[in-house]
Amino acid sequence: MKGLIIAIDGPSASGKSTTAKLVAERLGYTYLDTGAMYRALTWKALRQGVNGGNEDRLCQLASSLQLTLSFEDGRLRVFMDGEEVSREIRSPQVSQMVSIVSRHPRVRRIMVGRQRRIGEKGGVVVEGRDIGTVVFPQADLKIYLDADPQERARRRMKELRAKGINSPLDEQLSSLAARDRLDSQRRDSPLRKADDAILIDTTHLSIEEEVRAVLDLIKGRG
Ligand code: DC
Repeated sequence: MKGLIIAIDGPSASGKSTTAKLVAERLGYTYLDTGAMYRALTWKALRQGVNGGNEDRLCQLASSLQLTLSFEDGRLRVFMDGEEVSREIRSPQVSQMVSIVSRHPRVRRIMVGRQRRIGEKGGVVVEGRDIGTVVFPQADLKIYLDADPQERARRRMKELRAKGINSPLDEQLSSLAARDRLDSQRRDSPLRKADDAILIDTTHLSIEEEVRAVLDLIKGRG
């Protein structure tokens, strides 16, 4: 049987990545983190001194980017032009600039093409902002994860602390709010729940409960 296409969208720190990774692992599916792709592009732009407003140069970078995502033992590794950039793409500089880079329509078209080529054969869990609305509108199951902003900021803070980065809660709250605003107000493919996506509020759910909820929905579709 052809593997399904599972689309998981939602704002930053809604539980998307953790849930998508675990669901992919349990199903033996490919995990595709489209945010990591935009982050890798942003890292390259930063390195080459390309301004976030320069759509032409960003398009050139997006087309020529040699990007490999590998998912082993529950860990996503990102290689750009042969060099591992898994850590670098999560840096605060990249987080600050990625929403600016990713709002250009022509840049998105190139990235969406790449995402479709990876996922179109199925057997994939794809996470992002526009997967159910734009990248795979024909997905077999669309999930939209959301959580209370305070809870999302707390999760992000914990994640950063585990990496040795200390950042106060109010800083996380305002940085998430700024990113949410840019992602959901951009003209081209904004962050939005697809009409046929199932909303799961993860504020009071454990990771295991989130994963179970998604797996149960998949069982219903398989
Ligand atoms: O999921 P993330 O926080 O790593 O994503 C980083 C940024 O990339 C996010 O702020 C907006 C952008 N993005 C996007 O525009 N479309 C996607 N499908 C995924 C991410």
